[in-house]
Amino acid sequence: MLIDKNITWHSGNITKEDRYRLLSQNPKVVWFTGLSGSGKSTIAVEVEKQLFKENKLIYRLDGDNIRFGLNKDLGFKEEDRIENIRRISEVAKLFHDAGIITLVSFITPLEKMRELYRGIIGKENVIEVYVKADIEVCAKRDPKGLYKKAFNGEIKHFTGISDKFEEPNNPDLVIDTEMLSIEESTQLVLNYLNKQIRWM
Ligand code: PPS
Repeated sequence: MLIDKNITWHSGNITKEDRYRLLSQNPKVVWFTGLSGSGKSTIAVEVEKQLFKENKLIYRLDGDNIRFGLNKDLGFKEEDRIENIRRISEVAKLFHDAGIITLVSFITPLEKMRELYRGIIGKENVIEVYVKADIEVCAKRDPKGLYKKAFNGEIKHFTGISDKFEEPNNPDLVIDTEMLSIEESTQLVLNYLNKQIRWM
């Protein structure tokens, strides 16, 4: 990675702890990983809704959405996915520093990509949630018609079909969306967060 030698870090007078106190929360980055159609975005939307109702400052970074703007130059080849995850990890790190509870829903298909975000954001600041559903189930749900296209060969590098998805080695939380409803899945995440995030 290229970092220009002629740059200098400028510190401010306000610390992240000052911001956390202002917001009365010790934030975490909640990283949802899982196949397309597993339910990552659906659960993140519900978690956001519930925590916002409780006056928590929270923000969602969604793979699809971010690819409309910041990452619109990236595709789905491995090197593009790595860059996708690297950039969004840096964004999530800034949000965390700002004091905002940040929900990240990106497929993040390989363990080395998960290591990448842990390295950038800091392992202690991230909660990894594996949103688990078999590829057959996701393909049957096919909410965006993408699996159909992938099976017809219209989409290359499709995760789980023509591209690899590695199950996470050691997630903090596994949400099995074949067994649980959206409400139950949301509640499990909220219960976990309530134990992990120190509200002030
Ligand atoms: S990654 O692997 O983390 O870089 O992917 P991500 O940025 O989360 O983008 C996944 C969404 O892009 C759509 N899409 C694809 N997914 C997987 N493989 C291929 N080839 C592909 N092409 C488009 C799809 O809507 C994914 O959204 P989700 O919410 O996961 O279904």
